[in-house]
Amino acid sequence: MKVLVTGGTGYIGSHVVVELLNQGYEVEIIDNLVNSKITVLDQIEKITNKKPIFHQIDLLDKPVLEQIFTNSHFDLVMHFAGLKAVAESVEQPLRYYNNNLTGTINLLECMENHHVYNLIFSSSATVYGNPGIPEYTENLETGHNISSSYGKTKYMIEEILKDLAIANPNFNIIALRYFNPIGNHPSGLIGEDPNGIPNNLMPYIMKVAKGELPELSIYGNDYSTPDGTCRRDYIHVVDLAKGHLSAIDALESGFKAYNLGTGSPVSVLEMVQTFEKINGKPLPHKFSPRRAGDLPEFWANPSLANRELNWQTTLTTEDAFRDTISFIEHQ
Ligand code: NAD
Ligand code: UD1
Repeated sequence: MKVLVTGGTGYIGSHVVVELLNQGYEVEIIDNLVNSKITVLDQIEKITNKKPIFHQIDLLDKPVLEQIFTNSHFDLVMHFAGLKAVAESVEQPLRYYNNNLTGTINLLECMENHHVYNLIFSSSATVYGNPGIPEYTENLETGHNISSSYGKTKYMIEEILKDLAIANPNFNIIALRYFNPIGNHPSGLIGEDPNGIPNNLMPYIMKVAKGELPELSIYGNDYSTPDGTCRRDYIHVVDLAKGHLSAIDALESGFKAYNLGTGSPVSVLEMVQTFEKINGKPLPHKFSPRRAGDLPEFWANPSLANRELNWQTTLTTEDAFRDTISFIEHQ
């Protein structure tokens, strides 16, 4: 089975490529390297002893994309390529809508033209917006009060996919709604290492641990949560990657969405304490005012994916910290 992976040199895509290659799938990657490095391909080869075919192209370049579909027959597309920085998306909405929506529409048109009907799409818990309850199930209405342009692109793409699946029942589409992916491959050879000052919790903790930033600011300790800090559903990226392979077997006519999360929320303070335990020394941190747009807590109800994808998480936040420390030591 030949799989086209868009965004396959990125953080999550590269982990899925590793799992696909390990399971014997043939893989071709498309990525414009706007947020990843070509050296990831060598690291993937070190882990799997296989090197996927790589096309450095932009999904916005429709003629070149068409050519790739003409040259190869794909059984399945996994679509990770997209811009994902929440704050940047608020500053540059047109860039985000163009990249994420036009890129996806180009891809879908090529798929339809070339009769490639199996699609797994990287969606996000952000599509739920602010539903008013912390445990998210797939039957909640999506799109309500989404706070960023990035989040809206994910919601809009899901709507496009639903319409497409109705218009053309040949399409078998699964949207996987990720909660908070953390960690990396246990080899420490691939992972996420954003440039500059990170927005997300895990890379921020790592930069403080490396001494590149002086201390972590915990945004808010007066929330109505058990310890006053926000709670999230952190999922190890290897568990997340395996969820994609489980989804392949569940593809069927129409559009279906699944939550990929652990179902167990963890607070920011608990994350700090776990890191300190694994790293064996204190992590400098202070309490700061709440960050605008943050919800106090939310987590996945993963039962649908547990049942229908026959998938569940096995790794912990401790595993994620251990693997991330190993990734940093390899840098
Ligand atoms: P990433 O930035 O590491 O990977 C995305 C890849 O897509 C990058 O390698 C980038 O170069 C590429 N890309 C972007 N626009 C492109 C274009 N027009 N043409 C070709 N390549 C392009 O991000 P990630 O964390 O691996 O996320 C993968 C997907 O999962 C994204 O769609 C993201 O929105 C989604 N997602 C991520 C998270 C998260 O916390 N990381 C959470 C929910 C959903
Ligand atoms: C954010 C995005 C979400 C995206 C996800 C993963 C928003 C509203 N949501 O989610 O769309 O899918 O990142 O990329 O931006 N925290 C600190 N100090 C820090 C950084 C974070 O205390 O320096 C706290 C935050 O307040 C939050 C938790 O850690 O409570 C997790 O933050 P983060 O990793 O940014 O993820 P989300 O905000 O859940």
